[in-house]
Amino acid sequence: MDRIRIRGGRQLKGDIRISGSKNATLPLMVTALLSDKKLTLNNVPRLADITTMIQLLAQHGVEIESGTGENGHAHGTTLTLHTRKVTSTTAPYDIVRKMRASVLVLGALLAREGAARVSLPGGCAIGARPVDLHIAGLRAMGAEIDIDGGYMVARAPKGLKGARYTFPKVSVGATENLMMAAALAKGTTVLDNAAREPEITDLAECLAAMGVPVGGIGTETLTIEGVQSLKEATHSVIPDRIELGTYAMAVAMTAGDVELVGGRLELIESVVQTLRAAGVTLEETAKGIRVQRTNGALHGVDVMTEPYPGFPTDLQAQMMALMTRAEGASMITETVFESRFMHVPELSRMGANVTIHHESALVRGVPKLRGADVMATDLRASVSLAIAALAAEGDTTLHRVYHLDRGYERLEEKLAACGADIERLKS
Ligand code: EPZ
Repeated sequence: MDRIRIRGGRQLKGDIRISGSKNATLPLMVTALLSDKKLTLNNVPRLADITTMIQLLAQHGVEIESGTGENGHAHGTTLTLHTRKVTSTTAPYDIVRKMRASVLVLGALLAREGAARVSLPGGCAIGARPVDLHIAGLRAMGAEIDIDGGYMVARAPKGLKGARYTFPKVSVGATENLMMAAALAKGTTVLDNAAREPEITDLAECLAAMGVPVGGIGTETLTIEGVQSLKEATHSVIPDRIELGTYAMAVAMTAGDVELVGGRLELIESVVQTLRAAGVTLEETAKGIRVQRTNGALHGVDVMTEPYPGFPTDLQAQMMALMTRAEGASMITETVFESRFMHVPELSRMGANVTIHHESALVRGVPKLRGADVMATDLRASVSLAIAALAAEGDTTLHRVYHLDRGYERLEEKLAACGADIERLKS
């Protein structure tokens, strides 16, 4: 298994290109199941999770070609997806257990084929993560769903019907699943208390380009008019706001000065406010966002994760790493997932002072961190350790790098190009 070695103490300086969003790309790829016409996606990041989604879709019968990217340049890949015929309506356990986002095929398969058999994803390092809302929403649209042998077995023999469904809790994945199902349902579907994440907006815009009328884009009430068939379309994936926030925090951690090329402030407004309160300068430039911390110490700030437009849970671990070196204390409260503090014991091994009390972590800033051997159990926890390592004395070796490779494209190259002392140790 690969490891990454980081020697702390270097300021990051230069520029980093932000890749296309992983969490936008995954559902966008699944929309190809809805249509027998081609879908072309530009600015797709090169990540392990995208490869897993390619494997899943290929076994459903999607023909997928990948190219070098927009304008023949290597800024992301271009994927062309074409589902002339769905060849299997089963999403097998072996793929779903690797990547939970696989459950997104449920709504699309059911809508197009009237049947789907999708493995339940099982446990996860960041919490229980049930799929009850996906199931309840599809039932409201007329689906019959049973659990059998660890699989969700869904049928809609007469097709799905448009319905009004109010989510009892905001869910990104369930909103996406129902949006895709609604695209081929009979009549209009209204989704209340829908997620408003930029990835949802990107999906809505792609569905609209495929010929599905979607109203209320960017609001908590989405209206989707079902159609009989979809059109050929081309769509460019939005920049990855979590990668953007992660690098902003890495720059802040090293008192650096970096332009995040392709970044947009409006994608991470709550994060920008929090970082500014902590003493970080962020300003929009012609090419993206310039992040600097050149004048003085970081200040402790309190953070509570919430669905968009609140502070994202996917940046909580990275923010905690940053706060370990702030002056004063910071209270970090996780409200989206119940056990997303797996990075805390590893940060503590590097000298951080963090106390967990239920869903909150009290971080007291320390004057220095020390390098150590560390490992993490999920993607964002792993990258938080890399951020801590950038400011730690001595060497840190990050184990289980496959978590990072799921969601950060060429992390070590991007950081090394800005002066970080970082290398991948091949196994
Ligand atoms: C998406 O997961 C992201 N994944 C996650 O990113 C992200 O952390 C999460 O949204 C929240 O922003 C992708 O987009 C592929 P949810 P998702 O359904 O859709 C509960 C990363 O690091 N819930 O919005 O699975 C759930 O347990 C990953 O890139 C139910 O109770 O998240 C959680 O507490 C990790 N029942 C809350 O809702 C359900 O049926 C929000 O989950 C579904 C969810």
